[in-house]
Amino acid sequence: MMTKERIGFSPDHWDRTIAPMMARIDTRVGNLLRAPIWSHDGGLQDNSRERWFQHGKDEAAISALYYIHYPNDLPKDVKLEDILFGYAVHDIGKSEVSPDPTIWHRKRTDLTAPELAALQNHVTTAVTLLKRYEYISGETLPNVMYEIVTRHHEKLDGTGNPNHLIGDMLSPVVRLAAVIDQVVSRCEPRSYHDRSFTLKEAMEEVAKGSGTAYDPEVITKVRNLFMNDVHLQIPTLTWLGSWK
Ligand SMILES: [Fe+2]
Ligand SMILES: [Fe+2]
Repeated sequence: MMTKERIGFSPDHWDRTIAPMMARIDTRVGNLLRAPIWSHDGGLQDNSRERWFQHGKDEAAISALYYIHYPNDLPKDVKLEDILFGYAVHDIGKSEVSPDPTIWHRKRTDLTAPELAALQNHVTTAVTLLKRYEYISGETLPNVMYEIVTRHHEKLDGTGNPNHLIGDMLSPVVRLAAVIDQVVSRCEPRSYHDRSFTLKEAMEEVAKGSGTAYDPEVITKVRNLFMNDVHLQIPTLTWLGSWK
């Protein structure tokens, strides 16, 4: 039985520090959406592309909650806003998988071979899109953003992808991104699984990889955050439901 460490939350702190960052990230995501970097319309009528960014922004909000509660885990040389931006765009490559918005709901076995290949290559595609954006806009995107985009599917034991990095090759920022992404993805209706998990089920499923695929300390801290239902204080995260 896991013990629950008490965690508090100050809406005022969120409003003063995180909300303005999220607003600026919204603007940056809007710039990406409007930039001529895309190969198809991304299911414009169904906001399919925006849904991938919402998936990212939900994870950005969770990581912000994490760093509020565990400020010592924030790297000294990296801005929190750049980390949050990295989360917001981490699956930008999936926006290029298919212009068909039903891809969100189809099972993995129902995806076409090109769709499946594109899905598996979404990390590489993301870098292409972001580099294209840098070239067109003249803007330099932060290194930590690229780190999250390229490494959020890597695992400590080398079983992740695309580069099978291991152990210390994965920074604390990426170790956190890997866990948050896996938990949130399981709670969403996706082509990867037959049904969405409850938050508790998703967390426990991911926790099975604690110490092998995922950093055990990160697993414990993220679980604590969710066990305290801190995410329910953020309107965009209430869809995750309560821990119970
Ligand atoms: Fe991904
Ligand atoms: Fe993701």
